[in-house]
Amino acid sequence: MEGAKSYAWRRALIWVLIFLKVEGYFVDITYVEDAVAKGAVCLDGSPPAYHLSPGFGSGVNNWLVQIEGGGWCNNVTTCLARKVTRLGSSKQMVKQLAFSGILSNTPPLNPDFYNWNKVKVRYCDGSSFTGDVERVDPVTNLHYRGARVWLAIMEDLLARGMDKAENALLSGCSAGGLTSLLHCDNFRALLPTGANVKCLSDAGYFINVKDITGTAHIAAFFDDVVTTHGSAKNLPSFCTSRMALGLCLFPQYLVQQIQTPLFILNAAYDSWQIKNILAPGVADPHGTWHDCKLDIKQCSSSQLQIMQGFRTEFLDVLAELGSSSSRGMFINSCYAHCQSEMQETWLASNSPMLQNTTIGKAVGDWFYGRSAFQKIDCPYPCDSTCHNRIFEDYSAA
Ligand SMILES: *[C@@H]1O[C@H](CO)[C@@H](O)[C@H](O)[C@H]1NC(C)=O
Ligand SMILES: *[C@@H]1O[C@H](CO)[C@@H](O)[C@H](O)[C@H]1NC(C)=O
Repeated sequence: MEGAKSYAWRRALIWVLIFLKVEGYFVDITYVEDAVAKGAVCLDGSPPAYHLSPGFGSGVNNWLVQIEGGGWCNNVTTCLARKVTRLGSSKQMVKQLAFSGILSNTPPLNPDFYNWNKVKVRYCDGSSFTGDVERVDPVTNLHYRGARVWLAIMEDLLARGMDKAENALLSGCSAGGLTSLLHCDNFRALLPTGANVKCLSDAGYFINVKDITGTAHIAAFFDDVVTTHGSAKNLPSFCTSRMALGLCLFPQYLVQQIQTPLFILNAAYDSWQIKNILAPGVADPHGTWHDCKLDIKQCSSSQLQIMQGFRTEFLDVLAELGSSSSRGMFINSCYAHCQSEMQETWLASNSPMLQNTTIGKAVGDWFYGRSAFQKIDCPYPCDSTCHNRIFEDYSAA
């Protein structure tokens, strides 16, 4: 009896430990109150925020700054809707966030970054930290101040010791992956000259392609984002001087000029891009793509053919990155979006691999210069290591 009891108890403990490992550990929020005086605020005027897990041991002077994602708002209607959510107001944010994957503090789960200062910057401006409009409409009370938020948070982190950084990595996923790319050189410039500074963009390589009806849907959307948020002066001038402003949110027109070492991690069939760029709802009024967008296994052969075409375009514009060994690349053929923040895709026994290498190892090797990594997967469905996303059907009810 005793033996069976303690066996059951031990089993329960193991499950708790596994659960803790998978879920990560919780880190408290820090509000940057003094940013408010600088007008560096969330859409609703509340202070911006981040979560900081201090570095330890040999990591005390190393900084990982990870930017939260969450799309964009492109006009007053969508920004008003966002203003009352965690993506537009720090009043709506949870006080603790779970850190896992690239933010894990456990050596076997995150061997190269576990003991760094790890920061998760909350996203509450809706413009990938590019907006800056002085005027606040008293009717909507919307603040378009993403670029000021970026600077206020960086100043706060520099004052907390990031000014002594020896190693630093700016990273982020989705809209945060785009932020990492947009602010890469500017992050570099804020840090000590002798520091080893690099940028990782996870699922941030949004491409300028037409949707399934031939409409330039995402280009029009990005154009609205830039106009609404007054982003022009905060986008790289080498782009804004040559191109329509809205185009200067697309990595393909920016990466060539980025000087700081940059790693692009992206699925070639990025599920957000398939759902919102290739086959957005407005382009599919009869819902022909509905099931396929929820689960790639449900796509018809003609839909898969269109998705192969999307991958070809993706790889074409990815070539803008060039082949310098400072540029890292992990482009797998999965139906996924964001692979660095979850333990199961970052580094686990069954996580995605390219040439037998996990994302966590590829990024670590590239960051520390142990080996270059520039790999592109064979086309879907050749990769058996994928964790393909299957989405809930929210429209069913
Ligand atoms: C705002 O943007 C959304 C999403 O693109 C669109 O559906 C809506 O019509 C736009 N509203 C206005 C007032 O332009
Ligand atoms: C892949 O890596 C594992 C562990 O590092 C190793 O045991 C295995 O032999 C490798 N497989 C191939 C095909 O290289």
